[in-house]
Amino acid sequence: KQILKTDVFGKRYVYMDTTESTNLEARRLAQQGAEEGTVVVTEEQAAGRGRLSRGWYSPFGKGLWFSLILRPDFAPVEAPKCTLMAAVALTKAFHKMGLTDAGIKWPNDILVNGRKLVGILTEMSGSMEEISYIVMGIGVNVKTKQEELPEELKLIATSLTMEGIDIERTEAFKIILESLEHQYYEVLDSGFEETLNEWRQLSVTLGEEIEVRAPGNTYEGVATDIDEDGNLLVRIPDGTVKRVMAGDVSIRPR
Ligand code: ATP
Ligand code: BTN
Repeated sequence: KQILKTDVFGKRYVYMDTTESTNLEARRLAQQGAEEGTVVVTEEQAAGRGRLSRGWYSPFGKGLWFSLILRPDFAPVEAPKCTLMAAVALTKAFHKMGLTDAGIKWPNDILVNGRKLVGILTEMSGSMEEISYIVMGIGVNVKTKQEELPEELKLIATSLTMEGIDIERTEAFKIILESLEHQYYEVLDSGFEETLNEWRQLSVTLGEEIEVRAPGNTYEGVATDIDEDGNLLVRIPDGTVKRVMAGDVSIRPR
């Protein structure tokens, strides 16, 4: 903690040996009024969660499994932008660590050569008018080795170690939190435009042929851009452009 150069992120810092999910824990704290910037970090999660009620593999001491409480005063419809903002900040942090191949897969993953290094799970609480709090859960595989991965992740997951980046978790955490804080205040101070442009630069989704899987509706197209709300624009074969919200869709390369 002493080595953090951030002003707000991590000022209140909750460290746990083990927990079900840092997102659950952070929501509990947020409900009790925990301030913006509160960080909950754990060595392992017994029930780490991804989107769409999928699991997140969170073995002891191998990663950065953490959640950050935000209380921005923008409108709830803007909340999904936080995921994009975090993805940009994290990708820039990895570039700083020398991992230049890291790129963003819309909406919430960071990939290296098609394998997942990071997952982001943003949860919001509030009314239609006002955000009460946002919990941003971030899982970064740091020390995991290929042979330690469970069977179903062997071909789809990667870690900093597997990518040849030799860095201690505390050092990686410091770089990541600084980058997140910097990006967040840039968005609050100057708006989302610049971050959106950076997102476009860092994306591995734009320009790709993809399959969009929504409940009861799967279709193909080319990802052409994201709009100012962070929705993905997909041009389908008949030429029309669909606006895809992150909600409950999942995309696959074709
Ligand atoms: P996809 O791009 O595969 O559709 P998604 O973004 O729709 O992913 P999520 O729910 O965001 O899916 O991510 C959860 C998935 O991530 C799990 O189903 C699993 O395949 C994968 N996963 C779980 N734990 C890890 C981990 N530690 N590292 C990398 N991938 C993981
Ligand atoms: C995804 O790819 O679907 C998102 C995965 C998010 C994992 C992180 S690890 C810390 C936080 N706690 C959780 O239970 N999930 C997030």
